Amino acid sequence: MNERVALSTNNLEAFWMPFSANRQFKKAPRMFIGAKDMHYTTSDGRQVLDGTAGLWCVNAGHCRPKITEAIRAQAGELDYAPAFQMGHPKAFELASQLAMIAPTGLDHVFFTNSGSESVETALKIALAYQRAKGDGARFRLIGRERGYHGVNFGGISVGGIVGNRKMFGTLLTGVDHMRHTHDPARNGYSKGETEHGADLAEDLLRIATLHDPSTIAAVIVEPVAGSTGVLPPPKGYLKRLREICDQHGILLIFDEVITGYGRMGEAFASDYFGVVPDIMVTAKGLTNGVVPMGAVFVKDDIYDAFMGGAEHLIEFAHGYTYSGNPIAAAAGLATLETYKEDGLFERAKALEPVWADAIHSLKGTRHVIDIRTIGLIGAIELEPMKDMPTKRAFTAFVEAFEKGLLIRTTGDIIALSPPLIISEDQIGEIVDTLKPILDNLD
Ligand SMILES: Cc1ncc(COP(=O)(O)O)c(C=O)c1O
Repeated sequence: MNERVALSTNNLEAFWMPFSANRQFKKAPRMFIGAKDMHYTTSDGRQVLDGTAGLWCVNAGHCRPKITEAIRAQAGELDYAPAFQMGHPKAFELASQLAMIAPTGLDHVFFTNSGSESVETALKIALAYQRAKGDGARFRLIGRERGYHGVNFGGISVGGIVGNRKMFGTLLTGVDHMRHTHDPARNGYSKGETEHGADLAEDLLRIATLHDPSTIAAVIVEPVAGSTGVLPPPKGYLKRLREICDQHGILLIFDEVITGYGRMGEAFASDYFGVVPDIMVTAKGLTNGVVPMGAVFVKDDIYDAFMGGAEHLIEFAHGYTYSGNPIAAAAGLATLETYKEDGLFERAKALEPVWADAIHSLKGTRHVIDIRTIGLIGAIELEPMKDMPTKRAFTAFVEAFEKGLLIRTTGDIIALSPPLIISEDQIGEIVDTLKPILDNLD
């Protein structure tokens, strides 16, 4: 394969695909060549219903004219401006608009290019904030089992997905993990927050006591754990985390990379659950997934803690070449406008019960052992095949694609998160496509 000839045009080997079964894919490639609203077009001309908003990001649906046009216009007007020591108006405008839709007090925005970078940024802000206010002994970070916080070193250190951690050595030191909240025996087939498990928040107190709370900088959780297979929080759990953090001077970070921008029928999961973190990590839906961009929101007192000292000095030694990139900022502004004009957050809220009933109608279907829904998110957990974990769900994924439906699988769990423009008929189509596939799976 290292012959020159192998490097000819369209050599599938050249692209090492991320989080993919490369060899399986390259034997039978699944290629998209177009997209509009709720559908992708495949290279063989078929329409595929997008049951996952791409990767939880295309919340307004595909190729929305306002966003496309904003990107086109920006590329022709100001393509790039240095992100350090220089500015351009759209980055400031976007930050202001984001602060306006964010939960109260989260008024300052640091731009990144992805969810993973937003996580790293949030963890660094937390540590630097503690130090800036004279609390440098707070160096520990707490995550949770089954948490997904992207793939960079900080994120996999606080994250709790074994497969994403085990290959990469010692990771960050000074990290501990709370237990996950998955309890299908007590919370099976749940709609919205689960009934049991608020007491698991006491794990934070246990860990804080073990290390002494004065050593802990921050705790990071996804309000709804997504990539691990959709785990809605138990009722009261997030509120209790907030209380423990307040009592012990620990910063609470919400990773809202998938729950942000309308996925929960509110701007953020924080609004849905009525719990406001100190730092909020976002990406994906910020630009409708169209241009890579992330945004980390922080409370005023965190921002203010950095704004001391001589004015010519850089207050926070962190940032990316593309932080607040003009084209991404233009896409972000057009995305927020699209969400607002189309009332998409409200639409998601109105659809939540319809969505929940439809997905739960798959209860009793062959291989299904649990179903969980919250906001416009759904998970269908399958019984794994003996000695071949993940195979059953992966086969369902390939068959669904062939039958015109894009789903996502993680382990043996099917995760669904359609664009917020989905119609009730299309929700029905997801269920009607999946049922016979599951019934006929080995
Ligand atoms: C909760 C959460 N955090 C972080 C990330 C990482 O985002 P990215 O893939 O943009 O780096 C993801 C991606 O799915 C996520 O779900």
